[in-house]
Amino acid sequence: MTENVPNRSENEVPIEETKGETVVKTEPPKPVKKQVDRRSIFSWMGLAWLSFTAATLGMAAAIGRFFFPNVLFEPPLTFKAGYPEDYIIGAVDERFKESFGVWLVRNSEGIFALSTVCTHLGCTPNWLGAEAKFKCPCHGSGFYKTGINFEGPAPRPLERYMISYAEDGQILVDKNRKFQYEKGQWKDPDSFLKV
Ligand code: FES
Repeated sequence: MTENVPNRSENEVPIEETKGETVVKTEPPKPVKKQVDRRSIFSWMGLAWLSFTAATLGMAAAIGRFFFPNVLFEPPLTFKAGYPEDYIIGAVDERFKESFGVWLVRNSEGIFALSTVCTHLGCTPNWLGAEAKFKCPCHGSGFYKTGINFEGPAPRPLERYMISYAEDGQILVDKNRKFQYEKGQWKDPDSFLKV
């Protein structure tokens, strides 16, 4: 014979049977909600901790930038440029154009150091060997090999820098001193190195 057992939920547990009746005691439900609450509290705490850490790191980075700001490293204003025999008579030497902003030009008498800054608005001209001139790409100013301007809006010639011999016989260029043609400064012996 099969006994009829009523359907019970999992929280219902029979504890006694009287006169064929089953007395059922219901267990209190498990504290599911409390577990969920605890879990969500932990996740909120984690989130708050993450936010706090991120904010602290951001502040530390800002303070770091305050104490160690971006520094623009300028090339030195004085540099050695090798020996006179390294330069060809009649040529414009571009080896120091990028690194120091200087062209070294040798003629039959010596060498001079020409600034690569256009006297119009400061762009960097290009040396066009085939046309024997410096040509500024910004507004078209043109300069002869000597640095004298002859076309475009540039109001005056390119500037020259001080040039001399270092103790070891190398050419020494000093950008701390400039020489301007229109002021008669190209006659200064320090603006030209006799070779
Ligand atoms: S900056 Fe060179 S022509 Fe204007």
